[in-house]
Amino acid sequence: KKHTGKNWISLAGRFSFRVQSIVIAFNTLHASNVSGCLFQPCDKLTHSLCPPSYWVRWPAPCRQGKTNINSDSSVFLLKKYKLHVRFVSEQQFRLDYEPLLRTLSCDTEQQFTEVLNEILQEVDRRRRFSATSAERSAVIKDIYQPLHPQLYCLQESYLAPKFKKIIEYCQRSDASQQGLLDLLEEEAAPRVYRFPVFERGFCEQLMEELENFEQSSAPKGRPNTMNHYGILLNELGFDEGFFTPLREQYLRPLTSLLYPDWGGRCLDSHKAFVVKYDMNEDLDLSYHYDNAEVTLNVSLGKDFTDGNLYFGDIRQIPLCETECVEVEHRMTEGLLHRGQHMHGALPISSGQRWNLIIWMRASQERNKLCPMCDRKPTLVEGMGFADGFTKHSDASTLVSCVLT
Ligand SMILES: *[C@@H]1O[C@H](CO)[C@@H](O)[C@H](O)[C@H]1NC(C)=O
Ligand SMILES: [Fe+2]
Repeated sequence: KKHTGKNWISLAGRFSFRVQSIVIAFNTLHASNVSGCLFQPCDKLTHSLCPPSYWVRWPAPCRQGKTNINSDSSVFLLKKYKLHVRFVSEQQFRLDYEPLLRTLSCDTEQQFTEVLNEILQEVDRRRRFSATSAERSAVIKDIYQPLHPQLYCLQESYLAPKFKKIIEYCQRSDASQQGLLDLLEEEAAPRVYRFPVFERGFCEQLMEELENFEQSSAPKGRPNTMNHYGILLNELGFDEGFFTPLREQYLRPLTSLLYPDWGGRCLDSHKAFVVKYDMNEDLDLSYHYDNAEVTLNVSLGKDFTDGNLYFGDIRQIPLCETECVEVEHRMTEGLLHRGQHMHGALPISSGQRWNLIIWMRASQERNKLCPMCDRKPTLVEGMGFADGFTKHSDASTLVSCVLT
């Protein structure tokens, strides 16, 4: 289905869904951490859940990622008003947003103060995120009993046969972009590809595992300000045995061919999380772009109706010049897209929807220009992969940037 940007807004309006602003960004200050790296010496990685032989096959990278302190703390989503705002100081904020907020039924001083407090709280949460995330990982490791421990190590049997076929093709020395495109059949939207990723049984077990985690007393962080119901998979210990090999051995061969112009050959870190959309919880997700060079979004289930994803253009193109394309997303399927490709989700109208999101980053790209603030980043130490920046374009970066 195609709609122009304008039509799209009015169409979406039927679901009381409004796109208020295209100056949108995800919360970006989340440092993810690689728990193996944090708690153990780098050259002796072990994981209580994985057999030791596993680590010979998949040596995990151990590198301190960096966080950009320029951009991150400044963009916020006011969920209640479906509005993204920049915040530097109270004075700047009043000047820039008070008139607009007044028109959005935030019209008393008390309501305005509530908005301010919400932002200040979020500033604080982001500032402390790296430390609290490390604390949570440690506690989870200590007290959480996985329901399906085998899930924490990637196995070929979890992957859909069609996906394995695609990756096999990408790993061939004579693989070409055109050959791959033929195999992928059609684009779901410009440069958006859809293909099965996991077997159904794996999706079901993963949801069971995450439900088990949700119900446990283990501490929970939230992926970002846009999704309240979600799980940070690195805190659960999924990075080393699962997402790092998935990115390095399976996804990067694919992105190398599809997005060489967006760092697709050099994706050297990631942030993986699961979001849940439920009738009583988060229903939709406003128009935004990701803090990633390339994003893979996999639909894990369960029974839901509606709630499709829609894509606009890359973020530099204004919404009024954009034709939005709605994309259907079925269980086990992944949608692969450029992080800077603007997108949003329509509200679900019944059921519950779980999505696995992998934001993949290329330090080579983002070290030059932070995609969230369009400036050269000012970096500070982060935990684990942090936001996917690195300090120097050193040897380790170059090694990981192999041409496939
Ligand atoms: C992933 O796709 C689903 C549609 O299947 C959408 O509801 C969701 O918002 C997307 N997630 C993110 C974080 O973009
Ligand atoms: Fe997104």
